[in-house]
Amino acid sequence: MSLVGKQINDAMAIRLWNEITFHTYRFGGTTVEIYGSKGSTKTTLMLKIASKLRCESPDDVIPEPAIWRGRTVDQWNWYPRLSEIRVFVHKADDVVFYDETGQEIEVRVTRYRNAEDLMQKLGRFNVVYEPRSYSLSEDLLDLLARRSTLPKRLMKDIAVDSSIWWFEFVHYLLERPDNKFVSLFIDEADDVFPENPSGLRWHLQLWLKDNVKDLRKRNVSLYFSAHSHTDIDSRIRTKMQYRILMKGGESSSRFAHRQKGSFVLEARSGLHRKRRLWEVQL
Ligand SMILES: Nc1ncnc2c1ncn2[C@@H]1O[C@H](COP(=O)(O)OP(=O)(O)OP(=O)(O)O)[C@@H](O)[C@H]1O
Ligand SMILES: [Mg+2]
Repeated sequence: MSLVGKQINDAMAIRLWNEITFHTYRFGGTTVEIYGSKGSTKTTLMLKIASKLRCESPDDVIPEPAIWRGRTVDQWNWYPRLSEIRVFVHKADDVVFYDETGQEIEVRVTRYRNAEDLMQKLGRFNVVYEPRSYSLSEDLLDLLARRSTLPKRLMKDIAVDSSIWWFEFVHYLLERPDNKFVSLFIDEADDVFPENPSGLRWHLQLWLKDNVKDLRKRNVSLYFSAHSHTDIDSRIRTKMQYRILMKGGESSSRFAHRQKGSFVLEARSGLHRKRRLWEVQL
C-alpha cells in the first residue's frame, strides 16, 4: 500500500489500515462500511483486505479466515491467491458456474449442512453461497417474536428471499461456543441490509443493529460495500466503526480529486476521538 496526497500523516494511515486488517484480543472484531460509485474498485479492495487479514491466536499471529458472500454475478476469482479459495454450497443445492464469456467452468465445491458445519470446514478464503431457499430457524423466530411482540405465526407466513440466511449465520456466530476470529464480507450489501426494509426483514435488521457491538466482542468482523450509504439501512450503517469512501462515495470536496483505486479511511469512534480522513492508494 502506498500513500498519495500532501497532508497525509503516514503513520496514522498505516495504523488505521492495520486496525482493519489485523485483529487482536484487545480490540476484537472490526466493522467497516465501504461506499463508491460503479467501478470505483470496491470489490477489488474488499478482496485485498480479505487476503491481508491476520489475527492473534493464543501464542502467535495467524492468517484469519474470511467468508465472502457468494453472489450470482461475482468476482471472487479476483482474490489474489487462487489456491486459498474454497467454495461452499448448501447440501440441497446444485450450482453451475460460468466465466465472463459465458463458458461453463468447473469449480470444486464443498457442501455445508448449516452454520456450525460450515464453520468447521473453513479454509483461508471461503466463498459461501447461501441456501437457495431458506426459512428462519425456530430459535431466531422465537427471538424476533419476543422482541417485536408479534405472534410467531405471523412471522412464519411472510415470504422473504433466502439472503436472510446471513442473519441466521450471524446469530450462530454470536452464540457459538468458541471465540475464534472470523471476518464476513458482504459486497453489494443492499441485497442483505436494504434501506427501508419491510416485514420480517425490518425486524431482522433491527435485531442486527442491536447486535453489531457484540460481533466485535465475539471476534467477528464485518465488511460491507454499496454504491451509496443511502442504499443501506441507516440503523445498521451508523453502528460501523470504520468507513471507507472510494471515488463517488461521498461529496466532500477535500477528496474530490481522488483517483480510481484510491480511498479514504475514516475511523468514526472509539479508538480515535476525532473524525479524520486519510487518502491511500491500493
Ligand atoms: N488499483 C486500481 N486502479 C485502477 N483500476 C483498478 C484497480 N484495481 C482494480 N481496477 C479495475 O477497476 C475495475 C472496477 O473494479 P471493481 O469491480 O473492484 O469496482 P467496483 O466498485 O466493485 O464496481 P461495481 O460497483 O461495478 O461492483 C476492474 O475492472 C478492475 O480490474
Ligand atoms: Mg463490485
